Amino acid sequence: MVLRADAGWWRDAVVYQVYPRAFADSTGDGVGDLRGVRSRLPHLADLGVDAVWLSPFYPSALADGGYDVDDYCAVDPQLGTLADIDGIIADAHDLGLRVIVDIVPNHSSDRHAWFRAALATAPGSAERARYVFRDGRGARGELPPNEWKSLFGGSAWHPVGDGQWYLHLFAPEQPDFDWSNPEVRQMFHDVLRFWADRGVDGFRVDVAHGLAKDLSDPLASATALSMGPVGTMDATPTERRTDGTDPLFDRDEVHEIFAGWRCVLDEYDPPRSAVAEAWVPPHRRALYARPTELGQAFEFALLEAEWDVTAFAEAIRENLALAASVGSSSTWVLSNHDVVRHATRYGLPTGTDTAAWLLTDGRDPVEDRVRGLRRARAATMLILALPGSTYLYQGEELGLAEVADLPRHTLQDPIWQRSAASRKGRDGARVPMPWTVDGPHFGFSPETRDAASPLPQPAWFGDQSVAAQSGTPGSTLELYETALATRRARMDRGATCLVTVEGPLLVVDRTDGTRSVTNFSDRPAPLRFPGEVLLASTHRELDAATIPPETTVWLAAERSDAAIE
Ligand code: NOJ
Repeated sequence: MVLRADAGWWRDAVVYQVYPRAFADSTGDGVGDLRGVRSRLPHLADLGVDAVWLSPFYPSALADGGYDVDDYCAVDPQLGTLADIDGIIADAHDLGLRVIVDIVPNHSSDRHAWFRAALATAPGSAERARYVFRDGRGARGELPPNEWKSLFGGSAWHPVGDGQWYLHLFAPEQPDFDWSNPEVRQMFHDVLRFWADRGVDGFRVDVAHGLAKDLSDPLASATALSMGPVGTMDATPTERRTDGTDPLFDRDEVHEIFAGWRCVLDEYDPPRSAVAEAWVPPHRRALYARPTELGQAFEFALLEAEWDVTAFAEAIRENLALAASVGSSSTWVLSNHDVVRHATRYGLPTGTDTAAWLLTDGRDPVEDRVRGLRRARAATMLILALPGSTYLYQGEELGLAEVADLPRHTLQDPIWQRSAASRKGRDGARVPMPWTVDGPHFGFSPETRDAASPLPQPAWFGDQSVAAQSGTPGSTLELYETALATRRARMDRGATCLVTVEGPLLVVDRTDGTRSVTNFSDRPAPLRFPGEVLLASTHRELDAATIPPETTVWLAAERSDAAIE
């Protein structure tokens, strides 16, 4: 397949997130790498996605899974070379896939050349002015400048031994840039151009809401950061201000930064796309998605929603309306590398605190895997029927559950250490992909080498591997493939939809004549809609009069003029 020359490709794209170190290992060292990714691109083409998003592959000491970047224009030697990236871009384009890379602008790693230079120079130097250094309190600066807490636990300040401290909203190995410094702005424009020149089609922007800060704010010292309910980066608990004046997050000035990025992205033909990771309230999120800024922003309400028809309907309606209000397109996400996989979330009793559940190694409460997977399949079909882009996370096409019982000594996430072992963090969603039924690494690493992945795969991964599910009727992989093919064939780009709730049913009526019905109840419900059943998330053959429990069906309905205003 050849890439369509199409400036708006991202508006309704299905994007597959690859976490490179856990996707495919070509060398046998137990760490996924770029040649591994390249070798598996046909899997993504067969799946039928439109684009691949690569989580960071930059040189990194892995203090935060690669989101601690040493050099934004290089590849970690353990993962490959720039030539390997070029190979991925070329092969992906030949297969009809776009490539999105992750840009991490809030912080570098403490091994970045700029940060090393900052440490090597005295307080007040131009080198320190690229980061957020402040004098400590106390007679000798022995106390942190204020009481801010890192999102990963502990103080957000780290002392450098000369009375100054630097800010790190995440791990101490991730010093925050000072975005009021024009040098920082220029550097990131150059980074965007570096990757766009190589043929990258778009960017995922990490912690987009964090760049602008006001350290003079008198409320700053009283403001704490916290993690969100599903282990997310939620920086908007109730104590934060949501009007653009919070000292740390979602300040109004951030939009001027992204207006500058848009100018760079628009230097290219077609313009490069961007999607913001911004944990902000919905009415603020749309600002990042304006065409004059990044163009799109992740919608996380569904990541946080329980399995509940009203919660889903409200989140969907709000997201559609907000995206339309700024001329963007909606985004839909159920899983990513930061949250407990959705097949597991939906298998836990309503209201389960997933962080506490992980601490029990997934024993209490007991996960209902069958129910979780049934609901996950239904939820995925639901979001695929919505206008806009869908972001899938590696392994969800296999229906993978969270690996909740990783041995504690294997945990890599800084959250584990920095929370003094009171939160396990995100490793359970980052266990290497199973490609084959057998073998010591289920096809993740070459069998000939004794590779040991840092995060061991559980025995049950084999039965859920790509090989086990390929061509297997009723498998989750087959469902994803069929759903994506049906979406491509039946769902028009630019269609709008009407979302209604009828008892336990969430009904999406698209203007292209496709109707999606999701039964959120654990009982069958009458299916009172005419039309041919195109696909169902639970059964291959469906009696068109009944919708099974926790199931989505797609129907070929009449074309309608229903539309979201
Ligand atoms: C969001 C990323 O998704 C997460 O993995 C990372 O830890 C933080 N940003 C900090 O970069």
